[in-house]
Amino acid sequence: MVKVDIKYTKLFINNEWVDSVSKKTFPTINPQDESIITQVAEGDKADVDLAVEAAKKAFHRYSEWRTLDASQRGRLLYKLADLMERDAKYLGELETLDCGKPVKQAEGEVVWAASVIRFYAGKADKILGNTIPADGEVISMTMKEPVGICGQILPWNYPIPMFVWKIGPALAAGCTVVVKPAEQTPLTALAVAALVKEAGFPPGVVNVIPGYGPTAGAALTHHPDVDKIAFTGSTEIGRIIMQVASAVNLKRVTLELGGKSPLVIFNDADVDMAADLAHRAAFANAGQCCVAATRTYVQSGIYDKFVAKAAEIAKKRTVGNPFEDVQQGAQIDDEMFNKVMGYIQSGKKEGAKCVAGGARHGTVGYFVQPTVFADVKDNMKIAREEIFGPVQSILKFENFDEVVDRANDSNYGLGAGVVTNDVTTALAFIKHARAGSVWVNTYEHVTPQTPFGGFRESGIGREMGEDGIQQYLENKTVTFKLPKKPQL
Ligand code: NAI
Ligand code: MG
Repeated sequence: MVKVDIKYTKLFINNEWVDSVSKKTFPTINPQDESIITQVAEGDKADVDLAVEAAKKAFHRYSEWRTLDASQRGRLLYKLADLMERDAKYLGELETLDCGKPVKQAEGEVVWAASVIRFYAGKADKILGNTIPADGEVISMTMKEPVGICGQILPWNYPIPMFVWKIGPALAAGCTVVVKPAEQTPLTALAVAALVKEAGFPPGVVNVIPGYGPTAGAALTHHPDVDKIAFTGSTEIGRIIMQVASAVNLKRVTLELGGKSPLVIFNDADVDMAADLAHRAAFANAGQCCVAATRTYVQSGIYDKFVAKAAEIAKKRTVGNPFEDVQQGAQIDDEMFNKVMGYIQSGKKEGAKCVAGGARHGTVGYFVQPTVFADVKDNMKIAREEIFGPVQSILKFENFDEVVDRANDSNYGLGAGVVTNDVTTALAFIKHARAGSVWVNTYEHVTPQTPFGGFRESGIGREMGEDGIQQYLENKTVTFKLPKKPQL
């Protein structure tokens, strides 16, 4: 087992490390062997109150943060990105310890996350309003201003990327933040918080409160001084957050929620290439990915060949100790492990054909065999519900209109993919797919420059790109009356 030094386990408020008011702690678990890694300070309402107070002070109109030039906010963000890259190896190992993903992947995610921070660093002094030719003897313009104090609630599947998706645009916009990482993965958010301090951000600009959802998370959403909540997680909790936000103070809400994304493969595709692409689209991050392509629709002409190939690739997928050179580590916790195993049972019971995997991997840790179901029908649970595990469902189709209707027949609308060499088929698919991201001959190609988010129950708002920063800005319209015309 790799020894990873754990430096930070307390709450991060006002650039200080503090115990929780209650002095309570909670364990964070290693998904690889189910052992307790360490105890972490458990934040609750009293701690959220202190963190919001700090964020409010840092947002005061004459604070160091609010009076800093926008270009200097950018420089602090560039510095943070450099520090993350400096520590990429360490942060990757810490992430692997806490969430069980392969260490090379985790390190890659740190470098990718730094690129997101750099994108927003460059945006900080390019936040522009408009001048408007308004009716009357006036000059009118809009000014973009930070939305204020932001509560940011994170999931456990990509802890470092999710942390920077949230803080990057918020800080570039000039907001202050209180972040609640997922209870399963508090360690890397705290480690990056230490780099925020090292980079030179003033106290109170970024605060991190580890803890549970119904306590610390709910305290943030209920807080009347929080101007906005940004949330990534389940649709179930997204609904609650929106209700609470509307009842308390109409805080702004952006939500990145679940998905059941389709990938549609037409007869003209190269079967080997398509099977490989579909495999990665379904199994990336052990399937713990909101945009995972969990419904693979394959046209009848290549269906049998595709199923054989998909099973072959899945059987070869290497699973095990995430500190070794594997493609797949452990699922996040016992709850998700049991949930995924339940879906695998349900697929078998409902009559889908299990052509790869179908059981747990090993006897210790939350490992699941890469599982492929063929002959899946649209009404089966595995074709309708988000599994969030390494399970691919393959469904057969005959023609374009049928498959578009079936692909769109979901409450979700996060991603959709198409594999074809026919440009008119691809364009028609792009036009008809009801999803926030559509990929052609690739999948899950997500970059700092491109907006990401969902239609329908997959969410509200977009993260990343220009859209991502707009969600942290208010629009102030200014109208300036000109002096009376002189007598000429
Ligand atoms: P969750 O939605 O319960 O948790 C996500 C975050 O919300 C965590 O930080 C949690 O502490 C917090 N939270 C929970 N209840 C809250 C509340 N009442 N008020 C404020 N914050 C609260 O997701 P969970 O339980 O980890 O996973 C359940 C399912 O959600 C998964 O099976 C998967 O389908 C989906 N999910 C989707 C993700 C995505 O990337 N869109 C990420 C994680 C999970
Ligand atoms: Mg939950």
